[in-house]
Order: sequence, then C-alpha cells, then structure tokens
Amino acid sequence: MGIGNNMEKGVAPANELVDRENRHLNYLRISITDRCNLRCLYCVPEGRIPKLDHDDILSYEEILRIVNIGIRLGIRKVRITGGEPLVRRGVYDFLRQLTRIRELEDVSLTTNGVLLAPNAQRVFDAGIRRINISLDSLNREKFTHITGYDQFVKVWAGIERAREIGFDPIKINVVAMRGINDNEILNFGRLSLNHPFHIRFIEYMPIGNSRTSSRDQILTPEIQDMIATIGELIPVGNGQNDGPARRYRIAGAQGEVGFISALSHHFCNRCNRLRLTADGKLRACLLSDRHEPIKEVLRNGGSDEQLAEIFRTAVRQKAAKHQLYPNGVTTVKGQMQGIGG
Ligand code: 5AD
Ligand code: SF4
Repeated sequence: MGIGNNMEKGVAPANELVDRENRHLNYLRISITDRCNLRCLYCVPEGRIPKLDHDDILSYEEILRIVNIGIRLGIRKVRITGGEPLVRRGVYDFLRQLTRIRELEDVSLTTNGVLLAPNAQRVFDAGIRRINISLDSLNREKFTHITGYDQFVKVWAGIERAREIGFDPIKINVVAMRGINDNEILNFGRLSLNHPFHIRFIEYMPIGNSRTSSRDQILTPEIQDMIATIGELIPVGNGQNDGPARRYRIAGAQGEVGFISALSHHFCNRCNRLRLTADGKLRACLLSDRHEPIKEVLRNGGSDEQLAEIFRTAVRQKAAKHQLYPNGVTTVKGQMQGIGG
C-alpha cells in the first residue's frame, strides 16, 4: 500500500484540496453556460429570465487555465454541465482540449439530450465516454409540460444514438415530482430491465426560483419501495468513484437504478466536489450560497498562485453539511442553470 501511494505521488502531486472534514476534493463540475434550450419546471422561473452577457461568462481559455490550476492542487475529475452545454459554440473543441489533459482521469458530460442525436459522434470523438442525460418523462406530452418544449422525440433519439455509438455508462437523470411524473417512476425503473442504462432518481432540491416547491418532493424511500415491486434490488458498486448515488440492479436487469437522496439521506460527508459557475465563481457546495469570485482575479491579471489561493479559500469554507431537509423551509438562492446541478 505504502509503496503504491508513494508511486502515485511520483506521478502527481498530493491533493492539497483536503478540507476540515478530511474530504478530498478532486472533482470539479463546470457549468459552461447558463443558456438552455429547455425550460424545466424545477429549474427555470416564471417569465423571462435575464441571460448573462457573453463577457460575463468565462471563455474556454479561462476555464482551461482554472482547470490546470485545479489539477496542480489535486483535481482529477471534471464534468461539464450548463444550462445546456451543447448550445455553447465551440464546445466540441473544448471537450477535446479537456480530454487531452493527461492528469484528468475522467471527463464527463451532462446534457438534456435535445442536440445529442446529430452530435453524439462529435462528443465521442472529443474523447468523452461517460454521459448523463436528463429526462423526466417517457411520455411526449408530459415531457412537453415539464420542459416547455415538444422535444421528447429528439431526446430519445439522442439516447439511442449515444447507445449505438458506445457511450458507457449512459446515465438517465430523473427528478421525481409528485403529481407531475410520479406515475412514471415504475416505467423508468423498468427501462433498466432491457436497456443498459443507469436510471438515477434524484430528489428534487429547492434551488433558486422555479415553478416547483418542496411540496412536489418525493423522497427516496418512497421511490425505492415502488421500484422494489418490479423485482429484487441487488446492491452494486459504491466504490470510491461512484459519487452520491446508491446503486442497485433489479434482479435480471441489463441496466441499473440509483437513488440520489440529497435531502432524505445527506451524503455531505462523502462529497468530493467543487463547482465552477458559468459566470466564474468557485462554489464549494451546490446547496450553500457561499462562493469565491475567481473571474475577477483572473481578468485582473491574477497569478497562478493567486488563483490557487482562491481554490484553497473555497475549500476552507466548504460547509460540513448543507441545511436542506425534507419539507424544510430553507432554499438555496442561486439559479441552477448557471451553477450546473
Ligand atoms: N433538484 C434536483 N435536480 C435538479 N436538476 C436541475 N434542477 C434540479 C433541482 N432543483 C437536475 C437536472 C439534471 C441535473 C444536472 O440536475 O435534471 O439532471
Ligand atoms: Fe435546461 Fe437542465 Fe434547467 Fe432543464 S434542468 S431547463 S435542461 S438547465
């Protein structure tokens, strides 16, 4: 063991990003745009939302500089999110630049799938293998109700295309909401029987202004009980890299089901994440409003050391745990589109 550790240290410096709770923060999630081609009920507020100007969001060069500094400190995994990342011009070249960085063990993408069918090959050719697709309904009308756009057919085509091309794993993120898509939970579970997909049920989190509220929450125990009526739930994985999902395979299924229970079962003690928002803030916790402005330092000619110090400050300030509880009154202020889920 000891030798292995030393050898690892020979290749890359030790992770400096260890917080007070002894959490090793080696995972950076990056929102590259606040823009989106959908308007999901739980994400986008009523009415027109102000969009960030082009100058307000980090350029790809700026993001890459931040990533490289993060890597020096211990970042090893990156996920690209939005808004919808595939609406940003130049995203495929950017992904390629990221996957070329040797020190990154994993670069993945979260997309709503609308633009995936015609572009999945470009994403694959850019070196991405792991992809998460957000999909809250398998029914075209319901999908339109939830997202505001009649795009189910395109998203489903995108998922099929991703499968043909060979992305692995393909995770499907489902935000479960009472009275909205709870009647589809079983259908989503059954989807894992004959498809290699990892279906992940995510508890709705009250973040920013949206058209949903804590009343719409369905907690994991209830979802899991429903899924367990399909067949026996056999636990899988939960290795170091699995993140917050508790994973199972329904007996005999090709794919998996997973449960992300940010409210009913806090996983803060295992959190290894930092977030870079589209407008250039480093955020240590999705569910806490604290953030460190990094863009200003970058644009005022900040040195690598100054930028590294911002990472260290964010890490020092990472809350031990968040304050959201089932049916609670606390909400988080920031808007999801720019933070990136
Ligand atoms: N609660 C839970 N999940 C959310 N997502 C977006 N907003 C919320 C919310 N308020 C999910 C999206 C996507 C992922 C990035 O985050 O559905 O799958
Ligand atoms: Fe767009 Fe994702 Fe928000 Fe839906 S949840 S509006 S797909 S950013």
